Amino acid sequence: MTTHKRIAVVTGAAGDIGRAIAARLAASHDIIVLVDIDAGALESAVAALGGGAAYVTMVADVTSADSLKSMTDQLEARGKVVTLVNNAGAARAVSLHDTTPEIWRMDSSLNLEAAFLTFRAFERDLKEMQGSVVNIASVNGMAVFGHPAYSAAKAGLIHLTKLIAVEYGKFGIRANAVAPGTVRTQAWEARAEANPNVFEEVKRWYALRRIATTHDVANAVHFLASDQAAAITGVCLPVDCGLTAGQAELAHTFSQSEHY
Ligand SMILES: NC(=O)c1ccc[n+]([C@@H]2O[C@H](COP(=O)([O-])OP(=O)(O)OC[C@H]3O[C@@H](n4cnc5c(N)ncnc54)[C@H](O)[C@@H]3O)[C@@H](O)[C@H]2O)c1
Repeated sequence: MTTHKRIAVVTGAAGDIGRAIAARLAASHDIIVLVDIDAGALESAVAALGGGAAYVTMVADVTSADSLKSMTDQLEARGKVVTLVNNAGAARAVSLHDTTPEIWRMDSSLNLEAAFLTFRAFERDLKEMQGSVVNIASVNGMAVFGHPAYSAAKAGLIHLTKLIAVEYGKFGIRANAVAPGTVRTQAWEARAEANPNVFEEVKRWYALRRIATTHDVANAVHFLASDQAAAITGVCLPVDCGLTAGQAELAHTFSQSEHY
């Protein structure tokens, strides 16, 4: 029997969360493929990971089927994809009022359609290896917290996760989503510049009175991609320090109890 090298593909891996996921999956996979559209950032990311044979970088635009095809062709000789983490994502306009049709399409393309395209690109390997998909959604896909086009796409991504789980479960493929709350990454740079206290101010909305770290997100991805989660598919796991569980301040107003 041929044994194949086990590959994990992480998109948007030059970003802070993607890099943490790549590092976390390194122990359980033979090869980690870090995919990003930003070649320079990708090189810095892999340098920060310490390089090594386990990491392979690929510059690709995950919204382009052609770009993904060339990636799957290059990976064919290296092994089989057992884990696909759709992590590339970005949010543009903050309100519906500011959202142009172009922004709507760009956010849908990157945060939703790209995960469909990458899944189809690696579907054959995932079937053969009974692999798993982890989609990085957001609490924005569960309730309204601003960034409308991004949020609608993330809600779609949570549904795509269930679509894959239900249709491909018969092949042994599992699909799950992780929905982070606020995580301090480069994606927050502009907001942190506009308000240097933004990370302190958000803490009051989180039950644990803190925000999640890139490592918290990576740990959840690692769990969902592992055999420990062999019976878990089609779920969306919030990694949000309790944000979507409820609001203590509102519970206090509603109940007038001093315990909130
Ligand atoms: N940071 C947060 O507070 C937060 C909260 C919830 C969800 N998320 C989600 O986590 C994921 C990672 O976020 P982050 O904060 O690390 O962002 P980030 O901006 O640090 O990283 C995103 C990476 O995706 C890459 N990318 C963008 N377009 C691409 C494309 N077309 N093809 C390939 N790569 C592309 C970027 O170059 C970047 O390196 C995203 O899906 C984001 O929506 C983040």
